[in-house]
Order: sequence, then C-alpha cells, then structure tokens
Amino acid sequence: MNRFEGRTILVSAAADGLGLGIAERLAAEGGRVVALDKSAESIARAEERLSAQGIRFEAVDLMDAGQLTECISSLEADGLRFDTLVNNAGGSLHTPRPFLEETDAHWDIVMGLNVTAAVRLTRLVLPHMIDGGFGRIVNLGSKAGRYGSLFTGANYVAAKGAVQSMTLQLAQEFGPRGITCNAVCPGAILTPRVEGLLAERMSAEEREAAVQAIPMRRNGRVEDVAATVAFLASGEAGFITGQLIDVNGGQGMAS
Ligand SMILES: NC(=O)c1ccc[n+]([C@@H]2O[C@H](COP(=O)([O-])OP(=O)(O)OC[C@H]3O[C@@H](n4cnc5c(N)ncnc54)[C@H](O)[C@@H]3O)[C@@H](O)[C@H]2O)c1
Repeated sequence: MNRFEGRTILVSAAADGLGLGIAERLAAEGGRVVALDKSAESIARAEERLSAQGIRFEAVDLMDAGQLTECISSLEADGLRFDTLVNNAGGSLHTPRPFLEETDAHWDIVMGLNVTAAVRLTRLVLPHMIDGGFGRIVNLGSKAGRYGSLFTGANYVAAKGAVQSMTLQLAQEFGPRGITCNAVCPGAILTPRVEGLLAERMSAEEREAAVQAIPMRRNGRVEDVAATVAFLASGEAGFITGQLIDVNGGQGMAS
C-alpha cells in the first residue's frame, strides 16, 4: 500500500518506541516523514535502522516552546508543509503512581509533555492544514486515560484524559476545514521502556495475571498501534473524526 504518497507527516517523540514504529509505517507507505525527538543518541540509533531510512530526524526538546517554534519554522523554510500530525510525545515519565507522592513538579512535566507539547505543535501545524483544506491529526491517548491504570499515576491518567478531550474539540472545530482529529488509546505496548516499567512495578505473577485479563491474551505490539495510526491518518478514514480508538486487545471496552 502507498497510502501516504504525496503526504507530508510530522511525528513527535519518534526516535524510539511507538513514535519510531509509527514513523516507519507511514514512511513505508510512501509518506515524507519528519520525526522530532530530543535524544541525539536515540536519533543516531534510529538513523541506522534500515526501516527508518528516508525519515528525516530533527533534534528538539518538545518541552521547550522556543525550540519547537524554531524547529517548525526551519522545516517550513525547507518547503515542508505538514498535512498530517501525530502527537505521540508523552508518557508517565517514571513519576510515582501513588497520588500522595506526586509533587507539583511531577504533574508539571507529565502535563507538559503529554498535553502542552501537543497543544503547541498542533497550533504550529494547523494553519497549513487549514490553507490546504485537508488535514489529519492523530493524538496518542491511552487506556489509562480512558479506564484508569494499575501502574501509572493520576497525573498521567489526567494528562491523557486532557489529550482525549482536546481531540473531540479539535474534531468539532476543524472538521468543517477538512481536518480530522482522532486519538489512539493503547493498552500496555511492549516497547523496551514499558518492559522496564512493568518489571519495576509488577511481579512476574502480576504481569501474567494482567495478560490473562486481556481477551486477546497478549500484550500489545508497536505494529498494532502503528497500523491504527496509519488507518486514521489515511484518506480512507475521512469520515472518522473525534473518536477515541482503543488498541488494547479488549482489556478496556466501551459501547
Ligand atoms: N508504550 C505504551 O505501552 C503506551 C501505552 C499507552 C499510551 N502510550 C503513549 O504513546 C506515546 C509513546 O509512548 P512510548 O512508550 O513509545 O514513549 P517512550 O517513552 O518510549 O518515548 C519515545 C521517545 O520520546 C522522546 N522524548 C521524551 N521526552 C521528549 C522531549 N521532551 N522532547 C522530545 N522528545 C522526547 C524520547 O527521547 C524517546 O525517543 C506516549 O504518548 C505514551 O503516553 C504508550
């Protein structure tokens, strides 16, 4: 499939984990993909991957408004006009799960990366989508933001709830301009970081019990999320907007 030929796509926090898998999938289907990430080390590692060749990586700290604006301006100066944005940056950033142990600083960084970075990036990219009368925005929500979490805290759950609610509002506001906005809400996806987090916070027995509570009896894979993002970003999904799409093997369901 070459669903993204002629498309220009921006993916945040995409030198590792889900973001890299998403960027690779969209590039494999013909998209011109720019991947933002703050880690020079992860960018160097990603650039060596065969599947990431053709993706343009840009080093930027998404928590830094000035850097972000400068980065998008310089991409625009290179002639890039994004019609697709994947707001993938986020995570619980290893802040404590117990609510009473979460400090203001823990709340600030988690809200900053999950919510504020997505707000800023969307604000920077939307004007071109509006000009072109076409756009696809896919935000990364989470099962945690939909149904609560066994191993992340209230800050992360609230941040993803905010991203998910913002998704509905952007869909309302920009639908008339040809722009869709949806959120993909994964359950635990076994990236190397999540493997570490699960090992740190759950015993082997607890992990096995968690898998047994998933109707599909397995944890999620990066490809499960990348395929869903690709569908929502594609032309085929033009009548789907304002939706929160669970990718969790049936662990959380809503009618
Ligand atoms: N992995 C999961 O199980 C899972 C489940 C549900 C939702 N999600 C969501 O999916 C998204 C991706 O998750 P992941 O597990 O792949 O993330 P991750 O923690 O593995 O991070 C991916 C990348 O983010 C980059 N990054 C971190 N802070 C940054 C910053 N300030 N500026 C620029 N880059 C930065 C890192 O360098 C890394 O390359 C997040 O929004 C997360 O909340 C993940």
